Amino acid sequence: MKYLIDSGNIKAIEHISEFYPIEGVTTNPTLVSKEKTDFLPLIKKIRSIIGEDAALHVQTTAKTAEDILEEARGLKKAVGGQFYVKIPINEEGLKAASMIKAEGIGVTMTAIFTSQQALIAARAGADFVAPYVNRLDNINADGVGTVAEIAELFDIYSLDCKVLAASFKNVKQISETALAGAHCATISPELFRQAISHPMTDNAIEGFERDWKSVYGEKGVGDFLL
Ligand code: G3P
Repeated sequence: MKYLIDSGNIKAIEHISEFYPIEGVTTNPTLVSKEKTDFLPLIKKIRSIIGEDAALHVQTTAKTAEDILEEARGLKKAVGGQFYVKIPINEEGLKAASMIKAEGIGVTMTAIFTSQQALIAARAGADFVAPYVNRLDNINADGVGTVAEIAELFDIYSLDCKVLAASFKNVKQISETALAGAHCATISPELFRQAISHPMTDNAIEGFERDWKSVYGEKGVGDFLL
């Protein structure tokens, strides 16, 4: 499973992309609004941080297929690189997906809550579908189970569409999503940190430092290589 950053925060994106093996960034109107700044410079700044080869998924706000297509064209031109326009699934969105794919622009169909939505989105030409794991769990549905169903359907029908699981609130959801066969997960900067932190790891590192210092003092491995 590949990892993307689900954020519109420049500092957080800079930090996570410096230290973690990320494939790209996803945003949505809620995440962008949180930054309370000009939209286009923000998106361009994200592109400059992650580079042209990383995937940048940016959501449209238009309501009709024709307007969504216009926004997709504009975003692709402004943002460049490996770009995917995020479109919430509905009838206009599905129509837009086919039109946008015909122009060679990448499509991520988002706000996916059922495997049928995902299958129809894939048939419409979406490159990615984004099921919302935690929001499903919040309504006593099965977020990870839905991801597993979608992955299985794409496999049964040999579809190229990838599962880009989203909406996570804890590391267990991410872990189970990986086992369920999601191709990618987009997660918040906070969850990246939580995913690698473990008190036993901290304890092990402290032990290495203590033992080393007891023999070699302040010298590091590098000092012996000079
Ligand atoms: O990428 C979609 C995601 O941001 C939704 O997450 O936390 O608002 O449920 P959340």
